[in-house]
Amino acid sequence: MKIAIMGAMPEEVAPILKKLGSYKTTKYADNEYYEATYKGVEVVVAYSKIGKVFSTLTASTMIQHFKCDRLLFSGVAGGINPNLKIGDLIVASKLAQHDLDITAFGHPLGFVPGGSVFVQADRELIELSKEVALELGTTVQEGIIATGDQFVHDARVKENIVKHFNADALEMEGASVGVICDALGIAFFILRAISDTADTDASFSFDEFMESSAIISAEFIMKMVDKIVD
Ligand code: ADE
Repeated sequence: MKIAIMGAMPEEVAPILKKLGSYKTTKYADNEYYEATYKGVEVVVAYSKIGKVFSTLTASTMIQHFKCDRLLFSGVAGGINPNLKIGDLIVASKLAQHDLDITAFGHPLGFVPGGSVFVQADRELIELSKEVALELGTTVQEGIIATGDQFVHDARVKENIVKHFNADALEMEGASVGVICDALGIAFFILRAISDTADTDASFSFDEFMESSAIISAEFIMKMVDKIVD
């Protein structure tokens, strides 16, 4: 077993690296990858940089170059579902690319021929997250995550994403990572803690809560890893 643990920003993986203690840093494809043995299991940690292209490259590298056989993503998201408050955890059941748009040719938003609107996350890992939450006395909400190369800070954009995807949260990497894992036959799990609600004040909320929410998500991910390696 070799587990990939990724985030998009340094703040999203820093709490994970702290937990690992020592690790080996390898430069590959213009990024850094941190390899360690955690409780007897090999892990590779990286932050991809923000967005679908960088996250695709990092997920693909972790699987194809570093030979990881499952992938856990930890980070922050903008909340759409009003039940999701700052710091709450959402685990993706399925994800879509909200900015993949060839609707001009009659296709649904998020769809291109040969693909599908949604990519499904691994059911076993989702169930495992619920067990972990129960043990910790906390909650994770399962829901739909919409991904796009856009920091959403506009209620109308948010409404449009709800209309097309019935999404509960949005971010900038989950679906691209999911598509890669799905294509390569690797089980994946996307966890996000809410940093803002994607409204006009989203950038202020993000600046205020990104780090604390990133820690909430990272700490939960490491509890998942504990359970997986157990
Ligand atoms: N990640 C966290 N908040 C976000 C937002 N409002 N839009 C896109 N990605 C995000």
